[in-house]
Amino acid sequence: MENTKIEELRKLASESIDEAKDNKALNDLRVRFLGKKGEITALLKSMKDLSPEERPAFGQMVNSLRAEVEGALDHHMTELADAAKEAKMQAETLDVTLPAKKMQYGHAHPNTRALEEVERIFIGMGYEVVEGPEVEYDDYNFGKLNIPKGHPARDEQDTFYINDSILLRTQTSSVQARVMEQGKLPIRMICPGRVFRSDAVDATHSPSFHQIEGLVIDKHVTFADLKGTLDTFAKELFGPDTKTKLRPHHFPFTEPSAEVDVTCFKCHGKGCRFCKGEGWIEILGCGMVHPHVLEMCGIDPNEYQGFAFGVGLERIALLKYEIDDMRLLYENDVRFLNQF
Ligand code: DAH
Repeated sequence: MENTKIEELRKLASESIDEAKDNKALNDLRVRFLGKKGEITALLKSMKDLSPEERPAFGQMVNSLRAEVEGALDHHMTELADAAKEAKMQAETLDVTLPAKKMQYGHAHPNTRALEEVERIFIGMGYEVVEGPEVEYDDYNFGKLNIPKGHPARDEQDTFYINDSILLRTQTSSVQARVMEQGKLPIRMICPGRVFRSDAVDATHSPSFHQIEGLVIDKHVTFADLKGTLDTFAKELFGPDTKTKLRPHHFPFTEPSAEVDVTCFKCHGKGCRFCKGEGWIEILGCGMVHPHVLEMCGIDPNEYQGFAFGVGLERIALLKYEIDDMRLLYENDVRFLNQF
């Protein structure tokens, strides 16, 4: 009678294991047959009701059934895992002949490229690159640059005021005063940075743009040094055939002052659409630092002289990369940016 029970259980276990669809079902079966309250365990427990003679043979049969069921469970579990792996591999078939996806690389903005070019040139001439604050004291932006309150030059550079004495700087020239005041002489620096003016947006204006300031202070610095430096700069930036020309101008913080034109690198001075028929293109303002500015910044003008210049970064980028509208530099349209 006991043997029939074992056979029934063997059949039942083997069939249910074969039918199990997943690990959860297999685990349930493991509990059902082999667990503490499982059916095979119950058979073992029932041994106590048998006569001592019957027990060994019965025990052997139940134990071998137990081993069989354990083996079947493990085997089926491995089969399920293999099948799952196989299905995953089938689903993931790779077509190695497909062309690879192209990596989208970003690259430097034309403004950044122009700035790096300018920095490279001046670093090559022994200049240091410094930075100054965009939110600036009125005094550094105007006062110490010989533009006292009420001076008409302030109207040309109307800006955004935080309060009576703090504003968004209108020019990187503000950093000249800061560097001179530190008193570490000689000075040979350029200062790139963002500046602000309350200008309306058009093809050549923006309320926020960038300048690069230059300042050299030393003993025996002359106007010839300024001219030679800017000529070298222009040739490096626009090519060795470039010629420069200084036109007298007025800036309150330099005396004498000048604006610098370079020969148009498209027509080499003949006159074309690019330079509006002039043959020359204006690129910067410059001059010898005004003795009064030196004094206000704690430098003795009888001992030291210097020159300064200010370049518009966007202007350089527009010229160098032949872009005809400044707004394109700020819109960050990838169709435009990808061209550089
Ligand atoms: N800061 C002037 C401007 O924004 C440009 C400039 C002119 C800077 C002459 C200078 C300079 O350092 O010497 O128009």
